[in-house]
Amino acid sequence: MIQVPLDEQRQANLENWEDRVPVHTGPNGYALEDFDDPEHISRVVQFDRPRLGDISGLDVVHLQCHIGTDTVSLDRLGAASVTGYDFSPAAIDAARALAERANSNATFVEGELYDAVTVLGPSRFDLVFTGIGALIWLPDIDGWATVVAQLLRPGGRLFLRDAHPMLLSIADTSAENPSITVGHPAFGAAGPTRFEEPTSYEGDGTPLEHTITYQWNWSIGEMITALINAGLPIDTLTEHRTVPWNALDGAMVQVPPLGEYELADRPDRLACTFTLQASRPA
Ligand SMILES: C[S@@+](CC[C@H](N)C(=O)[O-])C[C@H]1O[C@@H](n2cnc3c(N)ncnc32)[C@H](O)[C@@H]1O
Repeated sequence: MIQVPLDEQRQANLENWEDRVPVHTGPNGYALEDFDDPEHISRVVQFDRPRLGDISGLDVVHLQCHIGTDTVSLDRLGAASVTGYDFSPAAIDAARALAERANSNATFVEGELYDAVTVLGPSRFDLVFTGIGALIWLPDIDGWATVVAQLLRPGGRLFLRDAHPMLLSIADTSAENPSITVGHPAFGAAGPTRFEEPTSYEGDGTPLEHTITYQWNWSIGEMITALINAGLPIDTLTEHRTVPWNALDGAMVQVPPLGEYELADRPDRLACTFTLQASRPA
């Protein structure tokens, strides 16, 4: 079990995310220039659209919005308002710059996830949108579910698409060794795993200064239990074979129509992402 205090783990994660922002806004990063086309929607939100449905007229909050590519995309789908929220000042600056460049009305607020109700206000949103690398950064799944429940208006909905805990339990692979083995805990309650990664998952390979992170692999059961206990019954849960980034080096191929990644060999073996929706009763 890791002995590092929680505030030091959070600080390490924050410094790591601060470092990643210039890499993600740079060459081979999140392709921000694509948003110069007013019709452009991020690949993540394109994937989500069939399950997301019509969001026109809704007040939306995007938790852990990073540099705002999905946030601006949600705004382009006709939401009444879209608020991005993230604890990284550099990410919020980059997101605001993207919104200006993209001529988007999305707004961005800096804050700790667990402070979101205090910062943004209770019962303010019709839709909480979150995911793709979000929950692993959170040490308390029950606290997260409570925040989501309190941000929603009665009748409001959570839309979560994130990396599947089955994928996140797989040990690192490489071109030389693409075999799939279980290497990490499959339960967030087991505590965080300490990772040391010299570069980010996107970008041009620029070395990061802060390379240590702490990540929790919350199981589907832990997420569902936390949501139900917070007063958010589950509406749907769908598991997917694909993930937006090359999560297992040497073991994945890109597939149409959106260029997401799945196992090259027998992709039915691995759930890579999931979409979970839950609602606050009206
Ligand atoms: C992988 S990114 C999410 C990416 C986003 N789904 C996208 O593709 O643009 C994770 C984000 O969570 C944010 N984050 C991590 N821990 C947080 C916390 N405790 N409170 C608020 N934001 C946090 C990071 O700053 C980072 O921007």
